[in-house]
Amino acid sequence: RKLVGKLTTGCTEFDEMMGGGIETQAITELYGEFGSGKTQVAHQLAVNVQMDKEHGGLGGSVIIIDTENTFRPERITQMVKGLSEKYGMDLNPEEFLQNIHVARAYNSNHQILLVDSATDLANELKEMGKPVRLLIVDSLMAHFRAEYVGRGTLADRQQKLNKHMHGLLRFGDLFNACVVVTNQVMAKPDAFFGDPTRPVGGHIVGHTATFRLYLRKSKGEKRIIRLVDSPSLPEGEAVVAVTMAGLTD
Ligand code: GTP
Ligand code: MG
Repeated sequence: RKLVGKLTTGCTEFDEMMGGGIETQAITELYGEFGSGKTQVAHQLAVNVQMDKEHGGLGGSVIIIDTENTFRPERITQMVKGLSEKYGMDLNPEEFLQNIHVARAYNSNHQILLVDSATDLANELKEMGKPVRLLIVDSLMAHFRAEYVGRGTLADRQQKLNKHMHGLLRFGDLFNACVVVTNQVMAKPDAFFGDPTRPVGGHIVGHTATFRLYLRKSKGEKRIIRLVDSPSLPEGEAVVAVTMAGLTD
C-alpha cells in the first residue's frame, strides 16, 4: 500500500481540519446547496494538485468528469495568477490548463464508463511522467437524480451508484489519487431520504465517501465548510473565502 498523500486546499483552517489536506486513496464528498462553492473548491484543487510538494501539491495532473458543463478554464487562469502572487512565482496558466483533462458525461451510464476511460488515460499519463493525482466528479448525482425518478427505480439507481462509487475508490487506490465528488443538497425533501439538509444518494454515497464536507454560504465571499464524516478526524468547521484569486483564508 502506498503512503497516503495530502493535497492542500490553500486555506489554513480548512487544511488543519482535514489533518493537513485532502487525502489520496479516498473519496472526499463536497455537498451543499447551489452556489455554496463546491465547483469553486474543485477548480482550486485542480490547480493546487499541480504544485510541488513544498507548496502543498502532489505534482500531478487532473481528470474532471463534468456532468453539468460547469468547468471554466478562465477561472483556472485566475486561480493560477492568484497562486503566482501568493508564492511570488511566475506560473504559466496555459501549462496548468494542459494538465487538466475534462470529459463531459452525457448521462449516468456514460459517467460510469468515463471512470474506465479515466483509468486508461491515467495509465498513459503515468508513462509520460504526468501522473494523475486528482479525479473530480462534478456533479456526482445530477444525472442519477434526473434519470431515476420515482420509487420503483431506486434499487436500480443505488446498484449503479454503488458500482460507480467503487470504480472511483479503485481509481484513487490505483493511482494514489484524491477523488473529489460534488453533491447538491436537495431543495425539497426527497421521497426516500426526506431530510432536506442531507445530500442525495442515500446510504450508498454516505458509506462509500471517506470524507464528507458540508459547504454553506456565509457573509459575502465567506463560506463555511463543516467536516461531517471522517474515519479518524474530529468534526469541525473552517471558514474560507471565494475571491478573485481563488479559495483563500
Ligand atoms: P451548484 O453547482 O449550482 O450546486 O453550486 P456550487 O456549490 O458548485 O457553487 P459554485 O462553486 O459554482 O459557487 C458559485 C459562487 O462562487 C458564486 O456565487 C460566487 O460567489 C463564487 N464565484 C464563482 N465564480 C467566481 C469567480 O470567477 N470569481 C469570484 N470572485 N467568485 C466566483
Ligand atoms: Mg457546481
